[in-house]
Amino acid sequence: MERKNRLAPSILAADFKTLGSEVAAVTKAGAEYLHIDVMDGVFVPSISFGMPVISSIRSVTDCLFDVHLMIVEPEKYIADFAACGADSITVHAETARHLQRVLHDIKSRGLRAGVALNPATPLSVLDYVMPYLDMVLIMTVNPGYGGQAYIPEMTGKIRALRQKALELGMPLDIEVDGGINDRTLRTVLDAGANVCVAGSAVFSGDRAENVRKMRNVMAEYTEF
Ligand code: DX5
Ligand code: ZN
Repeated sequence: MERKNRLAPSILAADFKTLGSEVAAVTKAGAEYLHIDVMDGVFVPSISFGMPVISSIRSVTDCLFDVHLMIVEPEKYIADFAACGADSITVHAETARHLQRVLHDIKSRGLRAGVALNPATPLSVLDYVMPYLDMVLIMTVNPGYGGQAYIPEMTGKIRALRQKALELGMPLDIEVDGGINDRTLRTVLDAGANVCVAGSAVFSGDRAENVRKMRNVMAEYTEF
């Protein structure tokens, strides 16, 4: 099975006063996805941004908009996020009361569907929704802020999920989010992740150079 590795810069760490040029810089440098963190101040302590910001940057790039909803009652907002330009919507298993229904809704709109798991949430919550999933987001920090340290116990969780996907013959995307830098990037790729979110590691210093360096590392890992 061919592995498609994708770098997903998280705009949470970008400079918002020049967000359009921040997005252009990382996508022109080769980032395939743009990771968009929506926070509601209820599920997670902080509040980030919502639909108007996403609509506004939609015209800057054709790259895949990977929307990570850290919000309660995500089912209420799927239509809105689809309308403002999301290509992929990921909901947290901890917030979706009817997880299968919301995944079915996302897919019925022609979008990619993902489930995110907090560090303490077991993989077994995925058992009965696997057919609806394009991606699983393994949170490698507790969601809510950028710039936190990678939680080492997540390496085994990534490995176990990749093993399960291989057993099922599923070309599942496994995304990791939180504390990904030059060093932890190799750890998660070794374990079987293939979509790597990076906030502070991309949006500090030379953005284009950061993207190129991380994509070069990712290119070394070509097979499951
Ligand atoms: C955390 C967010 C992340 C965050 C990652 O709640 O979901 O996407 O921006 O930031 P870094 O890469 O700085 O840990
Ligand atoms: Zn995220």
